[in-house]
Amino acid sequence: MTIRHFLQFRDLSRDELGYLFERTGWIKARFKRYERYWPLADRTLVMIFEKQSTRTRLSFEAGMQQLGGSAIYLNTRDSQLGRGEPVEDAAQVISRMSDAVMIRTFEQDIIERFAANSRVPVINGLTNEYHPCQILADIYTYIEHRGDIAGKTVCWIGDSNNVCNTWLQAAEVFGFNVHVSTPPGYEVEPERAGLYGTNHYEEFTDPMQAARDADLVTTDVWTSMGFEAENEARKKDFEDWQVDADMMRVAKKDALFMHCLPAHRGEEVSAEVMDGPHSVVWDEAENRLHTQKALLEFLLLGKVES
Ligand code: CP
Ligand code: NVA
Repeated sequence: MTIRHFLQFRDLSRDELGYLFERTGWIKARFKRYERYWPLADRTLVMIFEKQSTRTRLSFEAGMQQLGGSAIYLNTRDSQLGRGEPVEDAAQVISRMSDAVMIRTFEQDIIERFAANSRVPVINGLTNEYHPCQILADIYTYIEHRGDIAGKTVCWIGDSNNVCNTWLQAAEVFGFNVHVSTPPGYEVEPERAGLYGTNHYEEFTDPMQAARDADLVTTDVWTSMGFEAENEARKKDFEDWQVDADMMRVAKKDALFMHCLPAHRGEEVSAEVMDGPHSVVWDEAENRLHTQKALLEFLLLGKVES
């Protein structure tokens, strides 16, 4: 079997993603019935974290255990990765001792170099450029609540960061539209986002215009991990880019609100929206677990019969 990686969203085709969502439903239902499903018995996932995490670590570690396998956590501080061992050498060694590797790191180039030297599938657990596992969960959550996302309008408010870039890639794969509103100076960089074109998104200077008639409104922190030095400047630059109740009122009546979390109430989202009737953020977080279990099964075993 050729090794497949999940380094950016478009590494999987629309058909494969459809299959993954079908498997997610099946795996999730079995899990909810407390039925044991151990297709990854004796398999080991190594998780490398160069940045902090709650959800990504927990969902991958719990997910591997629930599939009968195990997960090992490495971070930069306690391993040789923090002392300058070349990423290519680390990949050679780590991939000889494990069945899959998940990495959360800085530049996308690091994970690409790791994957090029890995004997096993590599999964992007967040880089400066992308967060593909997050959007797997987000789209699955949208489908659970509202059905097919093709042709729908997703509104992105705030920083054109890793999560935004991944929504834009997903729009190309699934055929939906993204209305993006960022403060001046923080606009989308199509090349960095890894897009084929600009057909699937539109940029708005006014965030209220971007939210008008949207099926889904979503946002993320004003300052991502690795950009903390810009925090004070960003707080000023982003102050008009908060998702609040007025903004949700101009979106479709049944619009959903999503946030990858962690959230800062009173900054990128008001408490009223975060904890209000449009919000599906807890389902979204839970679905990290279920979608990633389907992803691990697919990357390690290929397509299996339900
Ligand atoms: N959304 C997300 O990836 O959360 P963590 O940073 O807690 O992993
Ligand atoms: N954009 C955020 C996402 C955190 C899950 C960051 O990179 O810090």
